[in-house]
Amino acid sequence: MAHRARDLSNREIALHVQHLVKGFSKKTGGSLLRPVHTESRAVDDVSFHVRRGEIYGVLGPNGSGKSTLIRAMSTLLIPDAGTVSIFGLDVVHDEAQVRRLLNRVSVDAAFYKKLSPRENLLYSAQLYGLERHVAEERALVTLRRLGLKDKAFFEPLEEMSRGMQQKVAIARAFLTSPVVVLLDEPTTGLDPKSRRDVQEFVLELRDVHDATIILTTHDMPEAERLCDRIAFISGGRFVAEGTAEELRTLAGPGKTLEDAFIELTGEDLAKDEEPTP
Ligand SMILES: Nc1ncnc2c1ncn2[C@@H]1O[C@H](COP(=O)(O)OP(=O)(O)OP(=O)(O)O)[C@@H](O)[C@H]1O
Ligand SMILES: [Mg+2]
Repeated sequence: MAHRARDLSNREIALHVQHLVKGFSKKTGGSLLRPVHTESRAVDDVSFHVRRGEIYGVLGPNGSGKSTLIRAMSTLLIPDAGTVSIFGLDVVHDEAQVRRLLNRVSVDAAFYKKLSPRENLLYSAQLYGLERHVAEERALVTLRRLGLKDKAFFEPLEEMSRGMQQKVAIARAFLTSPVVVLLDEPTTGLDPKSRRDVQEFVLELRDVHDATIILTTHDMPEAERLCDRIAFISGGRFVAEGTAEELRTLAGPGKTLEDAFIELTGEDLAKDEEPTP
């Protein structure tokens, strides 16, 4: 299933993260009136770069900081320290320009659930300043490509399965034709067919649109199939980075990516396989 490593070394750097830190203050004791808060780092001094046209995977268990990292890269959270730049633009200082270049898809995508995919997407298109017919055409093409039936385009979102809603979230992210795409667990909770549809779409984005893609996942086969390089994240820190083959080699002859993950992080990803709600 593993693909051959592509040489991207001469391509420009699309995303550059340097010493990124993001912490949250949590109540850890005290009383109701005098709570004691402790600061804990969800992302703890993370540095990496991704080249144009690369698919870069961040693999880690629940609570390891994947979503926080994605949010900090997508201008939704302001880092406590460190920098993130997209094609040389700083996500904090050049936020408006950065937003034109990137988009994010997350499992907790917000929609108007009583409205149909069509209505939701046209609403977003309006916010993005896109022409209505361009947006409608683009949305329909993407949803068909993802295996959604045309009929579903007009049904209320609340009547759709989680997998279908996820596909609508992906279609929405592509209304703006982003050059950098952040996918936070794009296939978690999807059935095998939908998972495959989404994975094929990710590969197509790279090949046809020359998009740069950063995705988080719990799924080892997915990381191996899609990603040019993979980072293992544990406790907010990157503990290893490389091609799937390089990471397997770190664990020793005949070892799997999962073996490497367990060895390098001391954690077992299988324990938090997503229970489908
Ligand atoms: N808004 C927030 N306020 C307080 N703590 C937060 C917040 N968001 C995340 N955290 C904490 O930061 C840590 C990392 O969370 P994060 O959601 O980034 O992990 P994750 O790797 O995406 O997990 P999952 O696989 O469950 O999605 C966790 O300990 C979490 O409780
Ligand atoms: Mg998450």
